[in-house]
Formats: sequence, C-alpha cells, structure tokens
Amino acid sequence: MSELKNDRFLRALLKQPVDTTPVWIMRQAGRYLPEYRATRAKAGSFMDLCENADLACEVTLQPLERYDLDAAILFSDILTIPDAMGLGLYFAEGEGPKFERPLKTLSDIQQLPDPDPENELQYVMNAVRTIRRELNGRVPLIGFSGSPWTLATYMVEGGTTKDFGKVKGMMFENPQAMHLLLDKLASSVTSYLNAQIAAGAQAVMVFDTWGGVLSPEKYKEFSLAYMQKIVSGLTHEADGRRVPVTLFTKGGGQWLEIMAETGCDALGLDWTQDIASARQRVGDKVTLQGNMDPSVLYASADTIKDEVKKVITGFGKGTGHVFNLGHGIHQHIDPDNVTVLVDAVHEYGKQ
Ligand code: CP3
Repeated sequence: MSELKNDRFLRALLKQPVDTTPVWIMRQAGRYLPEYRATRAKAGSFMDLCENADLACEVTLQPLERYDLDAAILFSDILTIPDAMGLGLYFAEGEGPKFERPLKTLSDIQQLPDPDPENELQYVMNAVRTIRRELNGRVPLIGFSGSPWTLATYMVEGGTTKDFGKVKGMMFENPQAMHLLLDKLASSVTSYLNAQIAAGAQAVMVFDTWGGVLSPEKYKEFSLAYMQKIVSGLTHEADGRRVPVTLFTKGGGQWLEIMAETGCDALGLDWTQDIASARQRVGDKVTLQGNMDPSVLYASADTIKDEVKKVITGFGKGTGHVFNLGHGIHQHIDPDNVTVLVDAVHEYGKQ
C-alpha cells in the first residue's frame, strides 16, 4: 500500500500534532455536485451506483478533485446491512429510503440472517478496495456504518418517520425483541466494519442519526450500549497504524461524557452544541468532529468565513479537532461555497 501523503485527519483523530485543522464534509459526495448527478444518471438507481465499484469510486473522488479535503469517505449507505438481511431496500422518489419487508414480530427478528461482508456485502468491500487503490495515498479513506438503533428505526418503521411510533412501541412493549434485534445488528455491524478495515478503510465512523430521539435512560440502554459493543469488537490497527473510530449521535450533545467512555477516539458534534464547552467536558479523552450548521453554506462567502472562524476559535489551540458540518451537506447549496469553507478552515486552523 502506498504511503499516506496527507495524514492530518488521522493525526487529529489521535490527538497528535497537526499543521492545521483537517476538514471533510458529511455527504461530501452527493446531489449538490453536478458531476455527482451526472454519474448517478449514468448508473441508474442509487443502489446501482453503490453496487458498481468503479462508479462508487468515481463519485467518492469527485469532491476531492474540487476541494482540498483531508479525507475521503466510502460512497455507500448505512442501509446496506438491512438490505443484505433481506428487507428489500428501495428509494421512492422524494420520499427517502423504504423497505419492502419491514420487521413486525419477534419471529421476523429471530429469522434475520447475519450477512457475510465478503458475500452479500462484497460490493461494498470491492468499492473500498477500488477507492483505496485509486486514492493512492492522497488522503485517508473513512469507512462507516449506521448504529444498531438507527438501523433498527428504519427496519421497524419501514422508512423515514416523524414520531418513531412503531420502533418506540416495540422498545416499550417488547424490549426483549428490540434487544435481540440490536444485538444481531451490533454483531453484523462489527463484522461489516472490520471487513471494511481489512479491505482498506483507515478510519471508521458510526452514524447514530436517531439516538437523539431517546430519553437519557433509553439512549444508554438501546443505543449507546450497542455502540459500545461495536467499539469493543473492532480491529483497532491496520498497516501498523491505529484505525480511529468516531461515534456521532445527532442530538446527543448531552451525552458526550458517557459516549467518550466507550473507548472511541472521536465524537461527532452537531451544531446545537457549543464546541468550546464540549471540549471542556470531554477534556483530552477524545477528538471532536464538527460542528458548523450546514445552513451556513446558503450564506455569502464573508459569512461562511466568519462562521468557520467561530468554530475554529471556539475549539481553541492544539490538536484534537476535525472540522465538519454538524450534519450532512444540503442538496441546494452552491458548490463554490464549499471551496470557501475548506480554504477558510486550513487558513484559520494554522497552529
Ligand atoms: O458522506 C458521504 O459522502 C458518503 C455517503 C453516505 C450516503 N449516505 C450517501 C447517500 C453516507 C455516509 C450516508 C449515511 C446515511 N444514509 C445516513 C446517516 C447519516 C445522516 O445523514 O444522518 C442515513 C440516515 C442514511 C439513510 C439515507 N440514505 C437517507 C435518509 C437518504 C436520502 C434519501 C433522499 O432521497 O433524500 C439516503 C440516500 C443517499 N445516501 C443519497 C446519498 C448521496 C442520495 C441518493 C441519491 O442520489 O438519490
């Protein structure tokens, strides 16, 4: 494997000294880029794009051609695991992800298979291998998965939801069924992430998009406990380097201390948190990733620079910060505004 030419992202995750703050953007490959829309049209459906290693690699690299980003993220989706478990993932135009066969009963859960990453999910590993080869050491490659709780919400609801009625109904009424589901997901996610690491992912991130809809008691029992299992089961080294793991619970700002105790290397922060107080709360234990409001990218260049500066000065001097948005980039922003953001991070982040 070729040597990394830019490792400031990995260094910041491990709290090693950096020349400036590294930056990448959640959903950096996506519909706000015209070149993404062109490749997507060529591929057919979103899943056709994910399943084609060459095209998945092409869209992964697109944002790196435009911007001076410090990491690449595998182009895929968190719902590949439930799809491989047989739920039948599809995307209804304008309605987001859906499953043909959502989980309803304990017996549905008992029958769920444990997908083999190098079989049913081999297309993901092929994408990782292709991207890693094509990156040729330019920047590190991030692998990812959904958290068990977040995957369970889609699997039980059958798609996106506003009130989480079905999944919370199962959690309250039939906690044993829910625990069985989360336990199965935690082991599948662990093997999936370990396979991504074996295939070439140099850091991994767990997206807990829906942990923040839980009460503190339920968050610990139904989301955090299973992310803890994953952190404990991960391969923490590859090519003689530590493979850092980042946990991101959207809306989870009140739980940073207990999240940091899982043994993860970094925490993702959404924009509802003040990064200076977050840093005080977690101390030296973990790196922080975030946390500019994605909507800042609708503003002018001067405003974007000001907001970038606020996040960087908010974190303060020293390593342990990876700049990112507080959630995924929006579809309708002007791609040129991302150039302003990335360059401002590297300028203001100089140590
Ligand atoms: O960050 C990246 O650039 C890597 C790719 C990535 C995608 N999805 C690509 C994608 C990542 C890391 C994800 C994670 C993901 N997927 C999450 C967790 C992160 C978060 O946003 O909270 C969730 C909840 C999903 C589920 C999902 N997949 C949703 C809600 C959607 C959008 C549906 C829609 O139509 O708006 C998807 C589809 C999806 N995943 C797209 C992309 C680029 C858009 C698909 C398209 O081209 O039509």
